[in-house]
Amino acid sequence: MTHLPPFALDHWLSAYDFATPPIAYNLASSTGPRWSVADLCALGDAPLAIDDAVLSYAPPQGSPALRHAIAAFHGVDADSVIATTGSSEALSILFCLGARPGANIVLPDPGYPAYAAVAQAWGLSPRFYRLERADGFAQRADAILAQVDADTSLVILNTPHNPTGTVMPRDEIAVLAAALATRGVPLLVDEVYHPLYFTAPQPSAAGIPNVIVTSDLSKALSLPGLRTGWLIDADVDRRARMIDARSYFTISSSPLLERLATHALTHSDAILDRLRAVAQANIAMLDALVAGSNGRLDWVRPDGGTTAFPWLADGRDSRPFCQALAAQGVLLAPGDCFGHPAHMRLGFAQQAEGFDVAAGRIAAALAAL
Ligand SMILES: Cc1ncc(COP(=O)(O)O)c(C=O)c1O
Repeated sequence: MTHLPPFALDHWLSAYDFATPPIAYNLASSTGPRWSVADLCALGDAPLAIDDAVLSYAPPQGSPALRHAIAAFHGVDADSVIATTGSSEALSILFCLGARPGANIVLPDPGYPAYAAVAQAWGLSPRFYRLERADGFAQRADAILAQVDADTSLVILNTPHNPTGTVMPRDEIAVLAAALATRGVPLLVDEVYHPLYFTAPQPSAAGIPNVIVTSDLSKALSLPGLRTGWLIDADVDRRARMIDARSYFTISSSPLLERLATHALTHSDAILDRLRAVAQANIAMLDALVAGSNGRLDWVRPDGGTTAFPWLADGRDSRPFCQALAAQGVLLAPGDCFGHPAHMRLGFAQQAEGFDVAAGRIAAALAAL
C-alpha cells in the first residue's frame, strides 16, 4: 500500500477552523477574505443568475467560457488552458504523467507539504532546494539547477511562495526555464498567489517557453470553495495527455461551479481589490508586531502572497506557543507542519476584521515568553 504521511498542516487547520464554533481569529489560513455565493453573484452590472445551470458533466478541459476567462487572466491563448478540480488535481496530473522508474522531482524547502507527499505517492522521489533565511528565502536558479540530474522529471517553483511570501521575478524564471529546457526538464510554476505583490508587480509566468503554469481561484482569488484550478501548457501533445488524465481522475468540473468561476474571473479586479485592502492593512500590523517584539520574533517581510514565515528568535519549537495562542482564539500554523519547528506560518489576508485584536494577543504571548 502506498504510504501517504499524515497531512499535519490540514489536521491542525481542520481541528480549529471546522470546530463548533470555529476559531475566532484564523491567522493560519493561506487564502483571502471570504465570499458568499450571493456577494459573488452580485459583482458587476449584470448580477449572475445560476438557476438555469444544467447539472450535466462539463467538457474535461473546461467550458469555453471558463477557459477564455482563465486565458484572459494570464494573457495567453485559451487553447493552452485546461481546467482542473483545484490546482491539486493539476499537480496530481503532472506528477502522474511525469512518473517513470527512478525519476525524481525538485521541490522548494520549505514548501507546500502536498508537493512531496503526492509526488512520492505517484512514484517520484522528492529532492529539495533550500530557501535560506539569510538570503531572504529567495528561490535561486543555481540552487535549483544543482538538484537537477538525468533522472529529474519536473522542477517546481512556487511564486509568490507559500509559506515565505518570496517572489521570483519573471526574468529570472525565464533564465531558469531556458536552462532546464537544455536538460529536457519542464519547469512547473505554481502561481496560486499571483497577482498579489507588495513590491515589484510581476506578470504571470504563463507563456515563458518550457514553463507549465498551475493556478486556481483558491488563494489570491479567495474562492477555495469553488474548487477550480487550471493548467496552462503550450505543448499540444502533453496537453492531450493531461486532458485524458483529467477524464480519468475527475471527469470534469461542475457546470454550476464553472459558471461561478467564470463570473469570478470576469470580475477579478473587484475580488483582488478587496484582497489587497485586507492584506495591506494586516501586513502593516505585522510590521508593528515584529518591530515591537523586542527581538523575540523575526521575519522576512513577504514580497507577495498571503502568508509569512516568521520565527521565534531563540530557536525554540513554536508548537507550544501556537497551542497557547489557539487556546486564546488566535490560530497560527506551527512551523513543524513545514519541517521548520522554530517558524510559524502566519496568514494575513483572510481576517478582514479583528486582525488588530489577534496581533495584540500575539504581542502579549511573545512578551510572556
Ligand atoms: C502553493 C499551493 N499550491 C497549490 C495548492 C492547492 O490548492 P487548490 O487545490 O485549492 O488549488 C495549495 C493549497 O494550499 C497551495 O498552498
